[in-house]
Amino acid sequence: ILNNIELLPADALFGIKQRFSQDNREPKVDLGIGAYRDNTGKPWVLPSVKAAEKLIQEDPTYNHEYLSISGLPQLTSGASKIMFGEDSTAAKEKRIISVQSLSGTGALHIAAKFFSLFFKEKLVYLSTPTWPNHKNVFETQGLKTSAYPYWNDADKSLDLEGFVRSIKDAPSGSIFLLHACAHNPTGLDPTKEQWGTILDEIAKKGHIALFDSAYQGFASGDLDNDAFAVRLGVEKLSEVSPIFICQSFAKNVGMYGERVGCFHLIVPRQEPSVDVDSIKKAINSQLAKIVRSEVSTPAAYGAKIVAKILNEPSLTQQWHKDMVTMSSRITKMRHSLRDHLVALGTPGNWDHIVNQCGMFSYTGLTAEMVARLESNHAVYLVSSGRASIAGLNDGNVEYVAKAIDEVVRY
Ligand code: LMR
Repeated sequence: ILNNIELLPADALFGIKQRFSQDNREPKVDLGIGAYRDNTGKPWVLPSVKAAEKLIQEDPTYNHEYLSISGLPQLTSGASKIMFGEDSTAAKEKRIISVQSLSGTGALHIAAKFFSLFFKEKLVYLSTPTWPNHKNVFETQGLKTSAYPYWNDADKSLDLEGFVRSIKDAPSGSIFLLHACAHNPTGLDPTKEQWGTILDEIAKKGHIALFDSAYQGFASGDLDNDAFAVRLGVEKLSEVSPIFICQSFAKNVGMYGERVGCFHLIVPRQEPSVDVDSIKKAINSQLAKIVRSEVSTPAAYGAKIVAKILNEPSLTQQWHKDMVTMSSRITKMRHSLRDHLVALGTPGNWDHIVNQCGMFSYTGLTAEMVARLESNHAVYLVSSGRASIAGLNDGNVEYVAKAIDEVVRY
């Protein structure tokens, strides 16, 4: 029974991490996995996280009991507030359902399970390109995935026309996975106006919007700005269809391994005669069954830390500063890399590196160039040309620029 099981290739992103850690050359640079590093190349425990942990451990009621199946209420309510805003109409109308998840991936998994159980049109549209794990998550739940154009390679811009054409052509009721901000891997987000067009077209066709929000606070350093698309979606789609939001706290709180996240579902506005509470009750019961079958109860420790940060004003303030620290260092590195490439006269235009946002730059380097960067220079990035700019620092950026220069000219 076991002898013919197919051997799969290593994970596209974690495979890089593994090769990097086995590489004994010096210097070596990891621009693979999207994880923030400080200016010395080390992982950074945010000051707000340290302060929250201290408060939690000093609390005389500190323990490691189970959370409830839907998660820590202080986390889910705080998470909902930063995602939808203090003045959210959906919140006032009590149309938001939130449950804790194992980071963004766990939330996507809950969404996938929910679609596979209750949605007729089980077709999920993903941007080309997208985070490779999106396809895995939906397909392992028996959903079909399709693609919508996103990236225009020729001028490194958004293919809005192709995107809109896909929305129009998709069977009504299809699910469109949208990156809420800091699109992974391209670092290219639609403008506010383009979001308006995209969401209007989704509404017109009666599609379902599924937002993946993994980088709130990383695109602009500001939580409200980075929730623009989600909030506009809630405004435009509330009369039409439910909206799903998968929220990760891996990056913006720098707690990658603790797996803190939330799954939110916005119930569409109903006729006055409809009992919304009983609809919500039924949905909550189904979500509880999904969570219970998958993880029994959500993970507690990281959730307590994030809940403290979201609910303790002095910690919230510190967290906002921490996000600015991270996002501004990344911006500085974008400029430094671009400037070094320009100074070296590296063939091509490198302005996209500074125009893109979030953790990644879709550099435009080919798979062959990426392979040579790894084999000849010990600089690791994804074969698509995606570089995690967070892996750059004052000590390695010039080395990386020279390595890129060499492979581009080769
Ligand atoms: C990435 O795209 O590098 C991150 O989202 C890490 C991951 O889990 O793939």
